[in-house]
Amino acid sequence: MNYEERITAADLSGHEEEAVEVSLRPKRLEDYIGQRKVTGNLKVFIEAAKQRRESLDHVLFYGPPGLGKTTLAGIIAGEMGVELRITSGPAIERAGDLAAILTNLNEGDVLFIDEIHRLNRSVEEVLYSAMEDFALDIIIGKGPSARSIRLDLAKFTLIGATTRAGSLSHPLRDRFGVVCKFEMYENDELAEIVRRSAGILNVDIDEESLLEIARRSRGTPRIANRLLKRVRDFSQVKGDGFIDIDITQRTLDSLGIDRLGLEHLDREILRLIIHRFKGGPVGIDTIAAAIGEERVTIEDVYEPYLIQAGLLHRTQKGRMVSDLAYHHLGISTNEGEQLSI
Ligand SMILES: Nc1ncnc2c1ncn2[C@@H]1O[C@H](COP(=O)(O)OP(=O)(O)O)[C@@H](O)[C@H]1O
Ligand SMILES: [Mg+2]
Repeated sequence: MNYEERITAADLSGHEEEAVEVSLRPKRLEDYIGQRKVTGNLKVFIEAAKQRRESLDHVLFYGPPGLGKTTLAGIIAGEMGVELRITSGPAIERAGDLAAILTNLNEGDVLFIDEIHRLNRSVEEVLYSAMEDFALDIIIGKGPSARSIRLDLAKFTLIGATTRAGSLSHPLRDRFGVVCKFEMYENDELAEIVRRSAGILNVDIDEESLLEIARRSRGTPRIANRLLKRVRDFSQVKGDGFIDIDITQRTLDSLGIDRLGLEHLDREILRLIIHRFKGGPVGIDTIAAAIGEERVTIEDVYEPYLIQAGLLHRTQKGRMVSDLAYHHLGISTNEGEQLSI
């Protein structure tokens, strides 16, 4: 089982997935549930920019995948009444690619760059002057006859999204006027999101099931929507189409998703630390090597929720599991120590 096969993987895989996701994506701010701190501030900035008839300042979104960054970028463009252009860090290979995108933007348009921490250096440097001066410096010719000309750009808004704010270079980070941190969602917010999605997908579901899906969604709307779809499949094939708590629990159990939303590999990580490292502290590289996953995958995908759920702690000396983790896995704290001798 690797990361791509995870049902609770919070990033996108496959076209079918993407199409459904687009249909479930709220288009107006009032349909965007939770994340109040972010939306509350943005509402003010949007309103102010509109009153001044100016473009919105550049905005940086950061936080784990599936929390609604792309969705909110679309909503902002809608609220500002401008076009949204979506691209991503790895997709812009050369400075010329970025120049082509930038010169096609109109006054006020929103350019969304996903995974902005993965822009390469030469592209990033072009972005600096574009963000700051709304201009591009282009070098024409080679050697001694080379000269630089300045090309003016429309005043656009850049919205950058990243899962890791820490890997953004300082000069790039400093050029964003607004920086928003996305938090994991509370269960009642996720239940609302599932209720809304069930309405759009036209499925009947009871209150208990909404909450059960919410609880097992790792604080992440994308996962909540995905679980809803899997439960819908089960209820259609094995039941009468109505989603009740019984069919919900049976689906989630058969997918190997436990009461806290953990999957096999999450539990493996916790067990590894308990049995092989006496509960920690143990370094992230050691964990990654033992599990056979990349360090960044552990850091970006597994760890945030384990920490949020209070199962894992990050300390100076490495990762440590909490008593709650022992309890959740049904391992007594003594037993863990004995087994590791
Ligand atoms: N606040 C929200 N309210 C309702 N649905 C949401 C919200 N945030 C995310 N979603 C749902 O989760 C899915 C993933 O969101 P997305 O914006 O693609 O996340 P990110 O860009 O952070 O990875 C969207 O299709 C949308 O249906
Ligand atoms: Mg996204």
